[in-house]
Amino acid sequence: MRISVIGSGYVGLITGLCLADLGNEVVCIDVIESKVETINRGQSPIFEEGIDELLIRCLASERFRATIDISTVAQTDITFICVGTPSNPDGTWNIDHVRSASKAVGKALGQKSSDHVVVLKSTVIPMTCETVVLPILEAASGRRQGHGLGVAVNPEFLREGTAISDFMNPDRVVIGSGDHLSSALLRELYAPLGRPIVEVPLATAEMIKVASNAFLATKISFVNEVGNICKDMGIDFRSVAEGMGPDPRIGPLFLNAGAGFGGSCFPKDVRGIAAEAHRRGLEPLILDAVLEVNDRQPLRMVEMLARSLDINGVQVAVLGLAFKPGTDDVRESRSIPVVTKLLERGAKVVAHDYQAIEGFRKLFPEITYYDCPEDCVAEADAVLIMTAWPGYSRPEMYDDKLVIDGRGVTRSKNYEGICW
Ligand SMILES: NC(=O)c1ccc[n+]([C@@H]2O[C@H](COP(=O)([O-])OP(=O)(O)OC[C@H]3O[C@@H](n4cnc5c(N)ncnc54)[C@H](O)[C@@H]3O)[C@@H](O)[C@H]2O)c1
Repeated sequence: MRISVIGSGYVGLITGLCLADLGNEVVCIDVIESKVETINRGQSPIFEEGIDELLIRCLASERFRATIDISTVAQTDITFICVGTPSNPDGTWNIDHVRSASKAVGKALGQKSSDHVVVLKSTVIPMTCETVVLPILEAASGRRQGHGLGVAVNPEFLREGTAISDFMNPDRVVIGSGDHLSSALLRELYAPLGRPIVEVPLATAEMIKVASNAFLATKISFVNEVGNICKDMGIDFRSVAEGMGPDPRIGPLFLNAGAGFGGSCFPKDVRGIAAEAHRRGLEPLILDAVLEVNDRQPLRMVEMLARSLDINGVQVAVLGLAFKPGTDDVRESRSIPVVTKLLERGAKVVAHDYQAIEGFRKLFPEITYYDCPEDCVAEADAVLIMTAWPGYSRPEMYDDKLVIDGRGVTRSKNYEGICW
């Protein structure tokens, strides 16, 4: 199949490369020229396990390339919209990029005579495909849905850090199809993965994605709240989680209490659905609490530190800046509120990450960064572990320094866990 992908970020690039690796002919389109050039040179603009080899293999196969030229959409059969949908200040999803991408795709379709399917992969408020994307596409292309134009929603469930394997081995493929054309094409495209397909109406597919993220975020905030209670009662939450996990109604995953969730999805998607509920006059009590627990959790680390020493003037090593291990993504990383608070309280902050220093430096140019965690820790008065990179687990690297562990990675001589 000939595929175009709009947006070459974490989702678009992985989608494009994986679909090319499955034998399709793919063009990834982005508005950032430097990103496109980097990709075409065989260098990935993001850090992700296995992406460098995959990119080189796909470029060599000549089934994959990147461009800024949106008109190439007309040379393909199906277009995936994978642009960002960040939060607006009021918590709603900002779908400006979805609008502009839809308009550009619609215009490009004016140059094409055969059928075309447009698939929305970005995470959005339910009804966006039907009430925003489709009307824009129809107006810009001069086509009508079901008459040369198919539309679908195909939410993405990949996780940064394991994105390629997640894309290739999904638990399920969700297809929100608006018409036979899009349904048939997407079923054919995903058939080689041999995974269950859940086919639902457009808005249902959008809600499956949002509800899944909201549920997982709720599980994290719940576990963090219970973990805080456990710590106060002198109970190690890690042992509690071990005893809870075997119950199939609970499950062992996402039972790690810690400094809270970050990243480009959970915070904005919970905010988005909560904002929609408020707009409708509903009271999303649980969703509001999920966000509040998550805002407070990283600051517990600073409060715990303040109970042991006067933060003003001390050197604090922050280990981990990416929102999770295995990625360079710092969007909504829990290290951001922690570093902000430490600086406010007069600490000298030094920091380390295996992949995310470049991204974090753009937010905090004033702090000192180290390439090696041992050097970062060496002169520090205390250490805060914010990301579960395996490299932070060795107790020897901390000697008897005060370590506050927000991710449960180490058991050094003088450590305290956030929930244990
Ligand atoms: N990152 C994840 O782990 C993940 C997982 C599942 C779903 N999602 C969802 O997927 C969507 C994309 O997320 P992401 O993390 O890949 O975002 P991203 O910011 O990494 O990438 C978006 C890309 O789109 C490009 N872009 C913006 N407008 C464009 C336009 N008009 N034409 C062409 N390119 C354009 C940007 O330059 C950028 O490179 C979001 O809705 C997100 O919620 C993300």
